[in-house]
Amino acid sequence: MAEHESHEFDVVVVGAGGAGLRAAIEASAQGARTALVCKSLLGKAHTVMAEGGIAAALGNVYPDDDWRVHFRDTLRGGKLLNNWRMVQIQAQEAPDRVLELEEWGALFDRTEDGRILQRDFGGHRYARLAHVGDRTGLEMIRTLQHHAVHKGIDVFMECTITCLLKDDERIAGAFGYWRESGRFLLFNAPAVVLATGGIGKAYKITSNSWEYTGDGHALALWAGADLIDMECVQFHPTGMVWPPSVRGILVTEGVRGDGGVLRNADGDRFMFGYIPQMFRAETADTEEEADRWYTDKQNARRTPDLLPRDEVARAINTETKEGRGSPHGGVYLDIANRRDAEYIKRRLPSMYHQFLQLADVDITREAMEVGPTCHYMMGGVRVDAETQASTVPGLFAAGEVAGGAHGANRLGGNSLSDLLVFGRRAGLHAAEYARGLTARPTVDPGQIDELARHALRPFDAAGSENPYAIQQDLQECMHALVGIIRTEDELAKALEELAMLQDRASRVRVEGHRQYNPGWHLALDLGPLLAVSECITRAALERRESRGAQTRDDYPTTDPELAKINVVVRQQTGELSTALETRPPLPDDLAKLLEDA
Ligand code: FUM
Repeated sequence: MAEHESHEFDVVVVGAGGAGLRAAIEASAQGARTALVCKSLLGKAHTVMAEGGIAAALGNVYPDDDWRVHFRDTLRGGKLLNNWRMVQIQAQEAPDRVLELEEWGALFDRTEDGRILQRDFGGHRYARLAHVGDRTGLEMIRTLQHHAVHKGIDVFMECTITCLLKDDERIAGAFGYWRESGRFLLFNAPAVVLATGGIGKAYKITSNSWEYTGDGHALALWAGADLIDMECVQFHPTGMVWPPSVRGILVTEGVRGDGGVLRNADGDRFMFGYIPQMFRAETADTEEEADRWYTDKQNARRTPDLLPRDEVARAINTETKEGRGSPHGGVYLDIANRRDAEYIKRRLPSMYHQFLQLADVDITREAMEVGPTCHYMMGGVRVDAETQASTVPGLFAAGEVAGGAHGANRLGGNSLSDLLVFGRRAGLHAAEYARGLTARPTVDPGQIDELARHALRPFDAAGSENPYAIQQDLQECMHALVGIIRTEDELAKALEELAMLQDRASRVRVEGHRQYNPGWHLALDLGPLLAVSECITRAALERRESRGAQTRDDYPTTDPELAKINVVVRQQTGELSTALETRPPLPDDLAKLLEDA
């Protein structure tokens, strides 16, 4: 058998962002022997990019807020494609998870009477985001990590999982390699929780860092699990656009939540021209009205700068395409003319330093140049809302890699509460599943040999393809053909290009040896990157309408019938297939919450 080290656990959690940490904490608290495996260093997760806050209906700023309003906002923001039961669970449990985080040591900004302060974010009826300045994700990770290290969880850092292992139909473990030494490892475990985050590195402009190559989505797909809503890729409206080296880095929605406004090159607050019917009743349609409402805390009606992200990203896209953009292809985000310098530095310290150091822009004096950046994948592993179990026994998923909670468009701040709520549930149920087994699954040694051979192939491949060139071409293709606005012709062209890239990837060759070899690592990451790109493209072709983040120029309207349908992607006997499957309808009592709005 290929040389490898071997470990025995009850639950292996892959990914150490908020969902992974919370899942590992819970599994361990249930008595499961738990491993936490992450591709980079602990603490370096995309969770930190959810800067502006955790959405939870604590009702600290607006007492009228409660889970029902949060439920309604989330479903409406997701353009009704969400798994309604997940939305209900998240809205109901989020406040407890935030308070638990506080008990574990998280620091939050405070109201004058000492409660957790909440800020405005797009699509939320009330100021709902518990936050600490613009570093909330970082605080969450810090707190969870600190809590986790006292639980006796075994942490495997800089370790990439390349394949899940099965014994017949059920999960038997996971196989991967140490990035530093290149040596292989095998985890024997009956339960695996995927918490690997997103797919941003399939796109040219993204807020994601190098780790986010769709690993968990692909691992689940290859293990036979269903993926849903893969067409729904979120472009956050405000990423940096200049200088080129920092293009895509996130500019928190908290800037707009704290009073910043978007303007085009003519100085117009263009968002007033883009208010969709669905949000008319509660969105101001003049600047004066918006400003008056903004300062009147009894009237939680919105400025259009804080419409849901899909609406704002599309509007920016239109402004720049029609020639009203900033010099570097974005628009302006102005807080300097709206708030004083002390306020900006106190509320948005990271943004202040980010722009000063990376772009030589003082945001207390000048407007920022911003544009859409690929930020989040709404689609992912189809899970049971109660347990986070996938369609493969022993496989669970939580956080960004799981589909359903956010429908066709996620509201800002909902990712952080999702991580806590569903991370806990995934860890709990994975531990229960492992405990309930009468016999542990076993791993086929022949499979290990095959996986090791496959992983080492780029060292002695006959071809001369360069993994970096393939990733770059993939990013160009996804950006140009499967980006914010899509058409059938472009999607079909993308599929052709993806097939060619797949062919080139089979001829990738890398030089050197296994010890810390980033070229080899990327060669292996091309597998998940190409797999998720094909899933996104196929699903986008299947959904013949515009809904949330899926905007089809050739099907510009929303088809009410398709709100009931998930596009499911699965791989069986090596072939990728898509299916349109009907979802359980919204029960009457919950439907009423939408109507009441
Ligand atoms: O804009 C932000 O701070 C991002 C938050 C999120 O994606 O939830």
